[in-house]
Amino acid sequence: MSSLQAAAVAHPNIALVKYWGKRDATNNRPAVPSISVTLSSLYTYSRVRFDPNLESDSFAIGGHRDAQTAIRVSACLDTIRARAGRDEFAYVETRNNFPTGAGLASSASGFAALVVAANRALRLDLPPADLSRIARRSSGSAARSLYGGFVEMPLDNEEETAYPLLDAEQWPLAIVIAVTATGAKDVGSTEGMERTTRTSDYYQAWLEAATADFATARDAILNQDFRELARVSERSCLKMHGLMLSTDPGLIYWNEASVACLHRIRMLRKDGVEVFFTMDAGPQVKAVCPPAYRQIVAEALGSIPGVTDVLQCRLGAGARVVEGAS
Ligand code: DP6
Repeated sequence: MSSLQAAAVAHPNIALVKYWGKRDATNNRPAVPSISVTLSSLYTYSRVRFDPNLESDSFAIGGHRDAQTAIRVSACLDTIRARAGRDEFAYVETRNNFPTGAGLASSASGFAALVVAANRALRLDLPPADLSRIARRSSGSAARSLYGGFVEMPLDNEEETAYPLLDAEQWPLAIVIAVTATGAKDVGSTEGMERTTRTSDYYQAWLEAATADFATARDAILNQDFRELARVSERSCLKMHGLMLSTDPGLIYWNEASVACLHRIRMLRKDGVEVFFTMDAGPQVKAVCPPAYRQIVAEALGSIPGVTDVLQCRLGAGARVVEGAS
């Protein structure tokens, strides 16, 4: 049999309506629905090769071993192996062209690329919704990186999967990322969510409001209503960070430069620039704007002390196999 290998790329996605909290931690089912945009420019490349001579999976990211992620990678491959009725272990080589584990959604692009590459390597041909569901079990946000443009993940009585909501070409927004630190975060999303669920007095209120935010953002995207999307996205982001802060002990993912960026983005908006912010479980600030404002926003954020880099993205494509990659 020809070798069981394939490579894929996937882009990180940034949630506009945030996922924070699980209703079923064992199967990694989210407690709230979410909506995201998939980015261009940043990507994870993942190459998977199943080998009958291997005695366990072998995983490297950027040429380095990472024992903790390796466990999650193997669990994900187990699901795919089971679906294919195969038992070979695999070599997995992954690299990111952006900082890993620093709030730039590397687990989202990482697991999306992994499932797409493994699916092709084992000639499984699973439909995207199945791949999205499998990716979600490894990392909730990864489900959304299967698709490009605007993506939604509603709650589902069976098992959550993501769906495309609006193509990138139909509403080609830009995303400007202010990098304010590149080290890995202290508390990862999975652990942070678990702590929040257990200790935050605000968690119930967060759950109750989530469906309405999801519906509002969904309509705003389908109507291409930037102002409404800005309002609901900033609100969802700030509520999630309120929830993080109300966790015991409080999760503070912001640094001084992050806060300065948030204020700067609000000032730009006052001056007539169409832009809004969002942040995840890390200190980077993501500004979303129509492409015409991208340069103004990038210059404004780049001039803030503590901003070490400014990355400019458009909306990107979904995870895909890369043919002939080595
Ligand atoms: C803040 O998908 O990283 O980025 O499912 O535990 O792997 P796990 O969490 P993860 O959480 C992402 C949280 C977030 C918001 C979002 O992307 O919706």
